[in-house]
Formats: sequence, structure tokens, C-alpha cells
Amino acid sequence: MRNVLVTGATGFLGRELSQRLMRMGYRVVGLTREIQNDLSVVPMVGDLLKEEGFEGPELTFDAIIHCAGHHPGETDQVEALHEEGTRRIVREAQERGVQRFIYISAMGAGFHAPTRFQQSKWVGEQVVVNSGLEYTILRPHLMFGHGSETFKRLEEAANRPWAVLPESKPLIQPVYVGDVAEIALRSLWLERTIGQIYDIGGPQSMKLEDVVRHIARDVHLFRILTLRVPKRYAYYVLNRVGRVGPILTGEEWGFLQHEVTRQDSRWLLDFGILPHSLAVYYSPLS
Ligand SMILES: NC(=O)c1ccc[n+]([C@@H]2O[C@H](COP(=O)([O-])OP(=O)(O)OC[C@H]3O[C@@H](n4cnc5c(N)ncnc54)[C@H](OP(=O)(O)O)[C@@H]3O)[C@@H](O)[C@H]2O)c1
Repeated sequence: MRNVLVTGATGFLGRELSQRLMRMGYRVVGLTREIQNDLSVVPMVGDLLKEEGFEGPELTFDAIIHCAGHHPGETDQVEALHEEGTRRIVREAQERGVQRFIYISAMGAGFHAPTRFQQSKWVGEQVVVNSGLEYTILRPHLMFGHGSETFKRLEEAANRPWAVLPESKPLIQPVYVGDVAEIALRSLWLERTIGQIYDIGGPQSMKLEDVVRHIARDVHLFRILTLRVPKRYAYYVLNRVGRVGPILTGEEWGFLQHEVTRQDSRWLLDFGILPHSLAVYYSPLS
């Protein structure tokens, strides 16, 4: 297996994954809507929401890793990209005779999921499951690591002497982007992962305020004030009272209010990965 097409190759996960694939000797072609100067993969230009064909090298691909997707509430095309966009890339795989297909979904994807984001990921999953392709589906929780826009905002909040957050009870299971990339990469040669769906959560489950506390540069001086406020005022607190600009978008906040932690240890065994923890990643000693 040599040639891999990565959708979302310009994104947070896609960049990390493409680098790792190239280091392993794969030829990586990255689908993007617009060529960017700092892109290290061979570009293929195309939009998953448009009918026009893709423009790029005439290669036979051995696998497609479908990372293109959105964050909750990022645009008004979140659901369309997960549903129609996945239909489009699956069709592309079938027409090009690509057998192996890895799909990046999200933790909590389900028909009865509480958010449209997770429901649309589930619809995308069903397209993949019923495609006849040799698939593996990965459902990461919130990913941390270099290049995350969400964590950039949390870091900004945590590197001040204090932060104000609305009280939030649900637990979050942050997972290192490099671990998710490694799992996607190893799926390519681990046959036992074909036809499997994995929930990928990090080793720690914690509240949002503890996530921010772990990120703080000086944990002894940093103070967090949590306010018990009705849900409809929570975003105001995040946006204004914290005084650091929006710490999370309203949609991200709403999304994190639905706890979806999972202890799925199959991936630790199937992929042989020792996951990185948020605490160690942000520890001053690491
Ligand atoms: N980040 C997280 O914490 C998290 C958690 C759970 C699940 N996920 C899922 O993991 C995947 C990767 O997330 P990420 O954080 O790396 O995303 P990201 O940084 O926002 O990147 C999104 C990618 O999608 C591509 N894209 C967007 N619209 C497109 C379209 N119409 N046609 C083709 N490509 C399009 C973008 O490519 P161009 O702009 O170059 O076209 C970009 O490379 C997504 O499916 C996301 O839903 C992420």
C-alpha cells in the first residue's frame, strides 16, 4: 500500500496525519478547496459539496482517509459536509476502485444523539458502513495538540492569572491529536480493524474547568471562578466575563454540555498505543 488520499489534509488532524504518513514512506495526496503555500502534501483541488470533479495527480489510491469535517456550529454547512460530503467521497472511492476507507467521525455519533453535529456524523457513518468498502471508523473526543483552534483559546484563558467559567458538570475525555493520527495510520495495515468502529477518548475524564487548570502555565497562581448560571447565560460568561474573548463558541459550549465519555479499551489493544494524557502534554516538565 503506497498512495493515500487524505481529505481535510490542511486541517488540525489532517496535517498531523499526513506528516506521519509521509514519514512512513506513503505518497500522500491531500484534498483541499484551495491550494495553500505551506501544504507539504501533493494537493488535489476539490470541494466535497460541489459536483465538479477533483483536479490533481492521476494516481491509483490504495486507501482514502476521510478527515474533512467541521466543528459544532462552525458554519451552516456542518451537517451537509458530514452527510453529503461523505456520500461524495465514498462515491469517489467506489468509482476509483479504492477498497480501504478510514472515516473520522466523532464521539457520541448516533441516530438519537442530542446534537445535530453528532447525528450528522452518524449519517456519514451509515454511508460508509453500507458502502461495501473495507472501512474503519474512528470517533475521537475533543482533540488537543499543536494547531487546535479550541485549545489555543483555552490556553489564552489559562495563561492569565484568573478565568471565569460557567459551572459545567459533564466530563470531557481530551485525546491527543497524534494518537488519533497514529490510529488512523495503523488502521491501514491492521486487518483486524476492518469493519470496526472505535470510540477514541483520552485516558483522563475531567470537567472543563480541570482541562483549563491543567493547561495553566502556573497552576499554583492560576485561579478559576466557576459561576452557577442558567444555560442561556453561560455563553455570555464565557464571552464577556472571562475578559479574554470567547473561550469557547456557544456551539462548542452547548456540545460539551452533553457528556459522551466512553471507556473503549479495544483500541489500546488493537492498535498497541499508549495514549498521551492532557496533564502530561501540558506539564512544565514534558
Ligand atoms: N478537533 C476536534 O476536537 C474533533 C473532535 C471530534 C471529531 N473531529 C472530526 O475530526 C475531523 C478533523 O477535525 P479537525 O479539527 O482537523 O478539522 P479542521 O482543522 O477544522 O479541518 C477541517 C478540514 O476539512 C476540510 N473541508 C472543509 N470543508 C470542505 C469541503 N466542502 N470540501 C472539502 N474539504 C473540506 C478543510 O479543508 P480546506 O479548507 O483546505 O478545503 C480542512 O482541511 C473532522 O471530521 C471533525 O469533525 C474533530
